Amino acid sequence: MVFVTSMIFLAFHMIFAEEKHVGHPCPTADVTIGKFKAIPFHYLWAEKVTSSVVNDELECTFFCIGTLKCYSFNIAVYPDSEGLYLCELLATDKYRETEKFSVNSTFHYYFPRSCEGAPCKNGAVCVPEYKRNTYHCECKPGYVGTICEQRGKTCSDIKSHSSRAASGSYVIDPDGEGGYEPFTVFCDMTDKNRVGVTVVGHDSEERMLVDGYDDEGSYVRCVHYAGAGLSSVAQLAGLPVASAHCEQFIKYECYGSLLLLDGFAWWHSRNDEAMKYWGGVASSNINKCACGLNGSCADPNLGCNCDTNDGVWRVDSGLLTDKSDLPVLQLKFGDTGFDGAGRDEKGYHTLGKFKCYGIA
Ligand SMILES: *[C@@H]1O[C@H](CO)[C@@H](O)[C@H](O)[C@H]1NC(C)=O
Ligand SMILES: *[C@@H]1O[C@H](CO)[C@@H](O)[C@H](O)[C@H]1NC(C)=O
Repeated sequence: MVFVTSMIFLAFHMIFAEEKHVGHPCPTADVTIGKFKAIPFHYLWAEKVTSSVVNDELECTFFCIGTLKCYSFNIAVYPDSEGLYLCELLATDKYRETEKFSVNSTFHYYFPRSCEGAPCKNGAVCVPEYKRNTYHCECKPGYVGTICEQRGKTCSDIKSHSSRAASGSYVIDPDGEGGYEPFTVFCDMTDKNRVGVTVVGHDSEERMLVDGYDDEGSYVRCVHYAGAGLSSVAQLAGLPVASAHCEQFIKYECYGSLLLLDGFAWWHSRNDEAMKYWGGVASSNINKCACGLNGSCADPNLGCNCDTNDGVWRVDSGLLTDKSDLPVLQLKFGDTGFDGAGRDEKGYHTLGKFKCYGIA
């Protein structure tokens, strides 16, 4: 470690020496130390990146500037027997580790002046940019904005600001500060090419039986979306607005139960409007399922497999992708009584989680 450290020093001295020769401006003691603020007789008892002995504060300053992840340092007040000072480079600063900062008779503490006053919010790292005398903030996953002052609007927003954000629960605020309250969602940070997928679950994800409801839309399943802090559809509505794409899987397995034909089944959009297209088709394809787009339904003249309405189990499924209609608020089915041959007509519905991704 000492060897590596010495090598870094050497490299530094060489760089600065080189700069002198070619006439570039080189850091003088005043300027460089000026980029750090000293707090005399204080010590930050925190994770060290590395330590070494140096000739003076200036050398410790250069050492920190040239070391990735050095955000402040402690330097001994008194030299050792060889006349050198212990210089400890730290992976954090007094703002993030306030409780580890204390008065100390044998150390001075230095931190980058540009990060004075902890400009970065919500636990973000203030990364000094010495050359430009400024800083930038590395947000904690979940926060966005120049100084990490806001919750991410969506999981894609979060991912775009913290590329290493892992999948898990996050609090998002789709319509930004003010407006509707933030709420908790699951962020899948690996799906869809790792763009950050916002996933909202609900109480109707299981495969559910529809039986004994004969009239059009007489079976009603209201879908309630789940997430801490999520209490109204209005909160959820901001999510598709802030996202490039949204989708929700929908499936109906039927046994003699008509789907879209004759208006037996439909679903409600987030504006509570009756929707008469099925998964796998664009919203303009009224009364159509995926098979109806290319004439591949059980009866090629019909829009859906289930519309064949015979005594054979059939399926219509696919993704709903028109984000102005999503998420699904209600499912309505009918034609699950008995047919002319005395067969017990029935069906099963399955509705996937609501997912949005990309930045609008
Ligand atoms: C100052 O910090 C050093 C290094 O952690 C420690 O050994 C020493 O006890 C501290 N001195 C005081 C007076 O706190
Ligand atoms: C119709 O489209 C579906 C998927 O979109 C495909 O699987 C099927 O092979 C197509 N059928 C015909 C007859 O083109």
